[in-house]
Amino acid sequence: IIGDHEMAKVTKDSITVTDFEGGPVEKEVMKVTWDEEAAEKGGFEDFMLKEIFEQPKAIKETLRGKLRASGGVTLEDLDFSREEIALFNKIVILACGTSYHAGLIAKKAIEKWVGVPVEVDISSEFRYSDPFLDDAALVIAITQSGETADTLASVREAKRKGAKVIGVTNVLGSTITREADASLYTHAGPEIGVAATKTFVCQIALLFAFALYMAEARGTLEIGEIQTIQAELEKIPGWIEEILEEKEVVEAVSKAVSSCEDFLFLGRGVGLPVALEGALKLKEISYIHAEGYAAGEMKHGPIALIDEGVPVVVVVTASQTHEKILANVQEVKARGAKVIGIASNGDDEAEKVIDHVLYVPSASEIVSAILAVIPLQLLSYYIAKIRGCNVDQPRNLAKSVTVE
Ligand code: M6R
Repeated sequence: IIGDHEMAKVTKDSITVTDFEGGPVEKEVMKVTWDEEAAEKGGFEDFMLKEIFEQPKAIKETLRGKLRASGGVTLEDLDFSREEIALFNKIVILACGTSYHAGLIAKKAIEKWVGVPVEVDISSEFRYSDPFLDDAALVIAITQSGETADTLASVREAKRKGAKVIGVTNVLGSTITREADASLYTHAGPEIGVAATKTFVCQIALLFAFALYMAEARGTLEIGEIQTIQAELEKIPGWIEEILEEKEVVEAVSKAVSSCEDFLFLGRGVGLPVALEGALKLKEISYIHAEGYAAGEMKHGPIALIDEGVPVVVVVTASQTHEKILANVQEVKARGAKVIGIASNGDDEAEKVIDHVLYVPSASEIVSAILAVIPLQLLSYYIAKIRGCNVDQPRNLAKSVTVE
């Protein structure tokens, strides 16, 4: 990895790294396991579709070796001892875009399983907010590329204030791995499509494993409870395969709504960040205006936007607010909206009120988040394709945002 104020001469047979005065710089040799095939489309029409279909494998790779058969989590990458992790009384998650949404989902898991407060902030806000932080706070910076300028700047700010930082990234040797005190890696393989898909679900799976690790360290879950959640995590790849098998159903729904120019995405609890992510995916690759909103907030303003031309996409997977969100669906339907719902298998109530239901396997409330996002990725993909958009390289966007 080339650091600041260094340069490299690469020939067919050798690589030499020097500083700008020509002085030699010693470098550690790292083996990157990504192969050429991983950076090709492999028969898929686009990288984005390929990456959506790679999600089961990517999650398996990310969780490989972490979930102990006897119950509990091993995090070999983590340069903190279990005892050190147990001492943190507050967690601050920093990220941008899709990685920020992964942080919002991780917050739900950490607060429920570990019982420590978690704040999630957008890196570009955090870095200028003069945040209160001390050495009791653990900062988790999520960045698939490891190069997002605002996230790196917020990490520097957090360290300046005395906090310890764990970086969560998909790229070995990226800048975040050098700036953070410790790193955790998603093993999603290279993600070439600008829209983050497989790295997002891997971030969530990895942070679920981290939450269990911390719960074990602090003794906040019984071993039986840890084993139950672990068993669900192990099922995620197979569950995602089941969802992907239904891609034609999502494609048909996409055709029905692809000419609409405004969409609303609604969720409650852990379904809210899923809705935010669904809206972000749609706007970035199809250029359709899409807003993600807390379903309970509709009557405080956004419901005024609803008419027959504004499809509403609602995450209604099993949750403690399931009845409440179905009531929100009735409210938007009464104003003429066409509703697309992401529901858990066997949810007969959803079918009664929702026009197009896309089902996902039934899982616990928190784990459902990682499943509910898959039909939303497919929905945005098919809508964008129908509209003739370049899904891999949407206008105005770069894969890594290395400037402020
Ligand atoms: O590399 P990072 O995870 O730090 O990137 C953060 C955002 O730029 C990224 O998630 C962006 O929002 C994606 N285009 C979303 O699909």
